[in-house]
Order: sequence, then structure tokens, then C-alpha cells
Amino acid sequence: MTSSKVTRTAGAGRVAVEVRGLVKHYGETRALDGVDLDVRQGTVLGVLGPNGAGKTTLVRILSTLIAPDAGSARVAGYDVVAQPRQLRRVIGLTGQYASVDDKLSGRENLYMIGRLLDLSRKEARRRADEMLERFSLTDAAKRPALQYSGGMRRRLDLAASMIGHPAVLYLDEPTTGLDPRTRNEVWEEVQRMVADGATVLLTTQYMEEAEQLANELTVFDRGRVIASGRVDELKAKVGGRTLQIRPADPGQLAAMARMLPQSTPDPETSVLNVAIRSDEQLTEVIGRLGAGGFAIAGISTHLPSLDEVFLAITGQKASVPAQDRGASELEEMVA
Ligand SMILES: Nc1ncnc2c1ncn2[C@@H]1O[C@H](COP(=O)(O)OP(=O)(O)O)[C@@H](O)[C@H]1O
Ligand SMILES: [Mg+2]
Repeated sequence: MTSSKVTRTAGAGRVAVEVRGLVKHYGETRALDGVDLDVRQGTVLGVLGPNGAGKTTLVRILSTLIAPDAGSARVAGYDVVAQPRQLRRVIGLTGQYASVDDKLSGRENLYMIGRLLDLSRKEARRRADEMLERFSLTDAAKRPALQYSGGMRRRLDLAASMIGHPAVLYLDEPTTGLDPRTRNEVWEEVQRMVADGATVLLTTQYMEEAEQLANELTVFDRGRVIASGRVDELKAKVGGRTLQIRPADPGQLAAMARMLPQSTPDPETSVLNVAIRSDEQLTEVIGRLGAGGFAIAGISTHLPSLDEVFLAITGQKASVPAQDRGASELEEMVA
């Protein structure tokens, strides 16, 4: 069959979302400037990019809420322009801002959405209860959504997007603005959905979120794809991790730096920064310091932040809002 190339990639599963040459202008602004991407069935594609990169514009087009100016997109085989009604039946959407009705209870919200999706009364009730249970909202089912915490609202929003058994789920910055604990709750839910076989297109500004949830990444900047690939591939491009070593005696910083030619000492913080590209190299560096008789007070590794990914790929600073910068870094103590 000649069409098999369009919907399949060699050795991989079926492509659930296929975007080719997508363009969307708002006046002078090129919100999308010729975007290509694929989301394979049963996988999570992370669309990573700073504010204004075009992520929500992409999600709106893939949800048939707005039309593209040029290019094409198919979701579960349906064309966004030619088959919007069929397409809407197979997608679920969770936005950055919860779309629940405050005055209604959690259960009423879900029931209403089920009815909007043409479920019978009985089926809408059954499905609402099932989703409440699934997202740990059964106890709060009868309370107005107004009384829900931020995390509960986001869970209700996720539950709402799952009511119609969507084949493809769009999560548009699902954790932006959430505190770290609530963010973790949402991550766990998404991971469960994926384990159940959901296909997800996730937009995020957080490298760590993309890392936790996505199989593959597409990095957007100003409406264009500037990089794409598996998470580990992208990180390797950016140059792996940075190992930070704190000597027990700050006076030994210079001597340690001389021993490790690829390192940069920071006398202000008394920390030695070493670029690490593999676990073997990490073990080797620590081994050499130990063999050299240096006492180490602390060691941590830092994954590249979103800023660093952007800097490495584009040579430009990402325009990530300042308050979000810290959250895109993963710090782990290894000693
Ligand atoms: N309805 C609109 N009218 C005018 N400009 C818009 C509109 N929606 C988005 N834009 C612009 O398009 C660009 C991409 O926006 P958006 O897709 O919301 O980015 P992101 O979701 O990545 O933050 C931005 O420059 C934004 O200001
Ligand atoms: Mg957005």
C-alpha cells in the first residue's frame, strides 16, 4: 500500500498525530511557522518551549478550535480541516486553565461533559463515577468545584478530558502554576493514563516535566521546531550533566581543578564544575579525586535546564519567565 508511509514510520507504531508544514499567523506574528511533528500511538510527545513559542496555537489547531493558514494535520486519521466533527470525538483536552464550572459539583461537571459527548444519562452517570474514583475525587464528588484545591481542580479537569475515552489526549501546560506537590500528583495521573495506553501530546515549559513524562521531545521556539528527538538524545546534544563538587577544604579547589582538565572552578562558591557525558565518566572523576587524596564535602549533578537546552540549540537565551527558571532544574545529591 502506498499510503503506509504516511501513517507509519519504519519499525515504530502507528502515528496518531501527524503534522506537516503547519502555519498560523496572527497579524505580523507567525505563531506557527511551518511545523512538522509526529506522535506515535501509545507514546507521549513533549512539546517544549517558552511562552509565546506557539504551543497553545498548535493544540488549538489540533483540537479544531482554530484553522491553520497552511499545512496539514491529521489526528487518529482525521483531517483537522476536512473532518472536524469526527476528530473532536477522538480527542481530550486539558488546558493550562481549568475549564470546570465552579458552581457545579465534581460529579455534575463530569456528568454534564458526558452528556455533551452524547452519552446516555445512565452511561454519563456511570462514567462520571468511574472517573471520580480513578482520579481520587469520590469523597469530594458532591462538593462544588469552587471548594476544590488547585490540585483537585486539575485532576477534575484531567478526568473531564478522559470521559469520552479519547484516543489522543492534549495536555497544554498541565502543571504550570502548580506547587511542586500538586505537580507531582498530576504527573502520577498522567503516567497512569499512559500506562493504560493513552497517546498524549503534552506541552510544557519544564525540562523536568518533559523528562518525567515524554518519550520524545519537539522543542519549539518562535513558531518553529528547533530540535526534536528522544529525551536522552537531546540532552546528549546539550552536553549531558554538570557535576558540582564541593571540597572539604576550599583551599584545595585550584589543586582539584588542575587534576581534572575538563573542570571549571568557581572560587566564589568554592565549587568545582565538571561537564559529565556518561555515568562512567562520573565514576572516574570521583575515583580520581579520591585517589588524589582530596576530601569531598558534597557532590551534586545538574541536568541541563531549559535555558541551557535553548542556549545550546539556538545560541540564544530562552525567554522563560524568571520565576519558572528554578523549576526546570533537577538537582540530585549523589553523595
Ligand atoms: N488570538 C491571538 N491573537 C493574536 N496573537 C496571538 C493569539 N494567540 C496567540 N498569539 C501569539 O502567537 C504566539 C504564540 O502564542 P501561543 O501559541 O499561545 O504560545 P505558547 O502557548 O507557546 O505560549 C505569541 O506571540 C502570541 O502572542
Ligand atoms: Mg500556551
